Amino acid sequence: MSAEREHQWWQKGVIYQIYPRSFQDANGDGVGDLRGILSRLDYVQWLGVDAVWLSPIYPSPMADFGYDISDYCSIDPLFGSLDDFDELVRQVHRCGMKLVLDFVPNHSSSEHPWFKESRRSRDNPKRHWYIWRDPAPGGGPPNNWLSQFGGAAWEFDDATGQYYYHAFLKQQPDLNWRNPQLREAMLNVLRFWLDRGVDGFRVDVIWHIVKDDEFRNNDPDPDYHPGLAPHRQLLATYNTDRPEVHQVIEKMRDVLNEYDHRMMVGEVYLPVERLVTYYGGEGEGVHLPFNFQLIELPWHARIIADAIEKYEGLLPPHGWPNWVLGNHDNPRIATRIGAAQARVAAMLLLTLRGTPTLYYGDELGMHNVPIPPDRVQDPFEKNVPGLGLGRDPERTPMPWNDQAHAGFSAAAPWLPIGEDAHSRNVEAMRADSTSILALYRRLLELRRQESALHIGSYAAVPAHENLLAFRRRKGDSLFLVALNFGHEPAVLDVTGRAPCGKIVLSTHLDHEQEVFDCRLELRADEGVIVRLDS
Ligand code: NOJ
Repeated sequence: MSAEREHQWWQKGVIYQIYPRSFQDANGDGVGDLRGILSRLDYVQWLGVDAVWLSPIYPSPMADFGYDISDYCSIDPLFGSLDDFDELVRQVHRCGMKLVLDFVPNHSSSEHPWFKESRRSRDNPKRHWYIWRDPAPGGGPPNNWLSQFGGAAWEFDDATGQYYYHAFLKQQPDLNWRNPQLREAMLNVLRFWLDRGVDGFRVDVIWHIVKDDEFRNNDPDPDYHPGLAPHRQLLATYNTDRPEVHQVIEKMRDVLNEYDHRMMVGEVYLPVERLVTYYGGEGEGVHLPFNFQLIELPWHARIIADAIEKYEGLLPPHGWPNWVLGNHDNPRIATRIGAAQARVAAMLLLTLRGTPTLYYGDELGMHNVPIPPDRVQDPFEKNVPGLGLGRDPERTPMPWNDQAHAGFSAAAPWLPIGEDAHSRNVEAMRADSTSILALYRRLLELRRQESALHIGSYAAVPAHENLLAFRRRKGDSLFLVALNFGHEPAVLDVTGRAPCGKIVLSTHLDHEQEVFDCRLELRADEGVIVRLDS
């Protein structure tokens, strides 16, 4: 079997995250929907990604914009119907792409019929599908655990005199994965969507889903300082990353293994030593535990170079790497590092070894859009105001053209559109051969064409200060990637360490095919890919 065929689609391909509320509105209510996504699939295909991951589209009271699910096996009317969904699966597949859904196993909505039953009485058959505890001996919450969205993680329920646990909003009660019936019901949710043709899942807060069986108090975090989210006052020792979580993941994986070529990528915000444990044993863990280091680390070449090296070194033998530059919970990359470096970041994301995940709109260089106080939507911002933690700025509508509402909707959109949408939009940037969109497309094309770039080996190339350099190789095909993280020109001298070759792509989208003779002069904020003579 050829090496190409030995690798699965989720190893070779690029995942594109769509936040459905903000991609395209087809029915004119100011909120994106499935018909809207269908109408834009030609763009996604043109861009050149391989899989589409949709943030939640299930029925939901939308307290946390779909991450509070009241029916795991249906579609919220805001987004469309199951028929629309089936059509989307068909069309995504027709375009040669894969479809990945968000699976939210840690919590449901408090409006889910399961929770409504659970809270009815202490002996209700669904009582232990959620996490109920008596008050502490002197009264008050059972322990000191804090909600990620501010305040205590325990909500008292008058009707039955107990508290329930919610790691996020009180409208998002945590499910009890230690309960076998709950577990089976949730695994059947996976089967429901797999049977409909879904190719995989992004699993929400997977490191949260099992809690300490003794409900021990968390200790204070000595590194906490005001400015961080309030829950960071405590180390999350006992409410997250419990050893038993891996048994649950194995059960999920068993379900995926019942089908061909399906995968799951797990959301895990943990230090890299802990992150890699989520690969589990071969065939047992998540295929890809999301690696958020490019989001979390300062944008310095040396820091990133060290992080790549460390991550590569920690991967288990069967562990396939992955990289993420942005998502719906973090500031846009262009805002964080600036427009010029966003192009360098694009080249890094799409040339590193491992599966890249690209957040919609980052290919346009979209930046955080300021949200006036009266338009704030995100419950995180509402509960914990003033710390800049709100996620609305990175969730604003995709600008398609310079028409009304940037072609996103016929109506005023649910979040404001960026002020630069008259020029930073798909139509205008498709027409500009030097735009960041053109760069993304070119990078995706090159990555797809060159097996060295999508499945090849990785080797660091020593570099100094603002430069990051590495080689990718597959058989005779060899590439050097050199990235200038600085705003000044810089030289990479690889005399004696690299053969000659030709520059095949610069982030500036000019001077292609120039001969490279071991001294690479990079302009300010420039990255280049060099095809080396082998
Ligand atoms: C992680 C999701 O990415 C985030 O958007 C959500 O608010 C929390 N999980 C709770 O589900």
